[in-house]
Amino acid sequence: MIIAVDGPAASGKGTLARRLASHYGFAYLDTGALYRAVARDVRAANRNLRDEAAAEEAARNLDAETLKDPFLRDRGVGEAASIVARFPMVREALRDYQRSFARRKPGAVLDGRDIGTVVCPDADVKLYVTAGLEERARRRFHELRAKNFEVTRAEILEQIRKRDERDKGRDASPLTRAPDAYLLDTTDLDIEAAFKSAVELIDEIIDS
Ligand code: DC
Repeated sequence: MIIAVDGPAASGKGTLARRLASHYGFAYLDTGALYRAVARDVRAANRNLRDEAAAEEAARNLDAETLKDPFLRDRGVGEAASIVARFPMVREALRDYQRSFARRKPGAVLDGRDIGTVVCPDADVKLYVTAGLEERARRRFHELRAKNFEVTRAEILEQIRKRDERDKGRDASPLTRAPDAYLLDTTDLDIEAAFKSAVELIDEIIDS
């Protein structure tokens, strides 16, 4: 069984996807980590993030063992990831890994931007998780402040807005809701309520 969870930055999709995987005993893949790792490796090779050949090379040589690297969660890496993610050759190089991961038994949950549309268009369950821009910025701001980062709300809002623009506006696999994806707007939902609503939907699909 494949559960695809897509949505914009700071929508809560990662937390939700992780909880769903643990609830159903499925494997979990944060596909954003793949793009983050490509950005990390391009920089480590002292090459430019906007150099498509360098990004493709990093994607083809990506070591999946390094996906848990805590550096990938650092500020600025998400932004860098969205730059290399625009290149079609990078996306293609990462596709097979994601598709073979999705076939894991008894099931897999993958979260990202194009799982339900491009990577696993035949997923059994597709969720499109979103929340208003202000609310996503508010969550990210509190998350960063809790880690003692000196940030302002306005700065975070602008970063997320720019990332939305880049992820939705690119030509290669832009972020968009698959027509058959269930829309989960978490603007007014806490993680518990979002999780409950997703489980109800998935259980219905499993039972049908
Ligand atoms: O989900 P995240 O914030 O870790 O993702 C970082 C960037 O990677 C995101 O801004 C765009 C890119 N990405 C993508 O293009 N496709 C995916 N399936 C996952 C992430």
